[in-house]
Amino acid sequence: MTICQPNKEAITKATTLLEEGGVVSFATETVYGLGCDTFNRDAIETIYAIKNRPKNNPMIAHILDVAWVNQLSTGWSEQCDLLAEAFWPGPLTIVLPKKETVPATACGGFSTIAMRCPSHPTARMLLASFDNPISAPSANVSGHISPTTAQHVEDELGAEVLVLDGGPCEKGIESTVLSMVATPTILRLGSISTDSIESCIGGVVCNTPATQTNSPGTTSRHYAPRTPVKLFTKQKISEINDDTCVVLVLHGTPKRANQTISMPTTPDAYARSLYASLREADTTHAKCIAIESPPPGIQWNAIHDRLRRSCAEE
Ligand code: TXA
Ligand code: MG
Repeated sequence: MTICQPNKEAITKATTLLEEGGVVSFATETVYGLGCDTFNRDAIETIYAIKNRPKNNPMIAHILDVAWVNQLSTGWSEQCDLLAEAFWPGPLTIVLPKKETVPATACGGFSTIAMRCPSHPTARMLLASFDNPISAPSANVSGHISPTTAQHVEDELGAEVLVLDGGPCEKGIESTVLSMVATPTILRLGSISTDSIESCIGGVVCNTPATQTNSPGTTSRHYAPRTPVKLFTKQKISEINDDTCVVLVLHGTPKRANQTISMPTTPDAYARSLYASLREADTTHAKCIAIESPPPGIQWNAIHDRLRRSCAEE
C-alpha cells in the first residue's frame, strides 16, 4: 500500500526510508511534497530523476523550527526573526546564503538555500521523527499540476512512492518564496500575500515575472494540465458553445460545454480547489479547458499567477 494514514507505524516507516536515502511524499498545508534527506546527495538525485526536474531548479528545505536554520544557512537577520514570528510555521519560504556543508545539488547549484517551516501536523510529525531537514519539491512531475491530495500524488508518481496522507491541503497553492539575501524580494507569489509581508517588515520588491534566472522554478509554463488551458472574461465564457471544452466558471454560464465546473468565489476557497479542478478537467480528455478569469485585486494575485502559468505555451 502506498498511501498511509500518518500513524506512528507509518511515520516510523517513512523515517527509516529517509534514513536509508529513500524518498517519501507527505502532506503540507500548501501542496504535497516529495521529500528526502537534505544532506544525502544520492537521495537528492533520486528526486530530480523521479520528477524529471531540471537540475538547476533548487529545492526547499523543510525544517521543524527556527533553531534548525543554523544547520543550513547564514545571514539570518532581525527581519528574518520578525518573519518567522509572524508566519512560521506556515507557507512562507525564506531564501538565504547556504552553508558550505549543504550539498550544492540540494540547492540546484545555487549559493543560497530556501527554507520553510510547514504547519501541517503530518509534515511536522515526519520532521520531528527524522530530526533533520527534508528537501521537498511539490510531488508532481516537473511542470505539471501540484498535488493537493494523497491520491493526486499516486496519480502523478505511481504506486512505488510512500505517501503520508494528511487529507486535502488547506491552502491549495504553494508557499510564497521570499529572498532575504539582500533587499527583501518576492520570487514566487503564494499563500501569504505581499501585503502581509510588507506589514511585517516594510517594503519588499516583487520580482515575479514569467521567467527568472534567480529562481528557475518560476519558468513561464508550470502548474499545467495536459489539456490546453485558456482564460476568458465572464462575457466570453457565456458565449462558449462547444462540447469539446471543459469550463471552469465563477459567475458566467456557457451556452454549451463538455462539462462545467463551478469554482468558489472567494480567493482562499478558490485556491483550495484550483488544482483539483484542473486535474478533474484534465481527466475528461476534452480538447480545451476554458477558465473564467477571477476579478482583479491583490488577494487574487497568486491565483492569477498560477492561472497565467497553467496556460503559458511550452
Ligand atoms: O508550498 C511549497 O513551497 C511546496 C511544499 C511542498 O512545501 N513546495 C514547493 O516546492 O512548491 P517546488 O520545488 O515545487 O518549488 C520551489 C520554488 C521553485 O520556484 C524554486 O525555483 C524556488 O522555490 N527556490 C528554491 N530554492 C531557491 C533558491 N535557493 N533561490 C531561489 N529560488 C528558490
Ligand atoms: Mg513545484
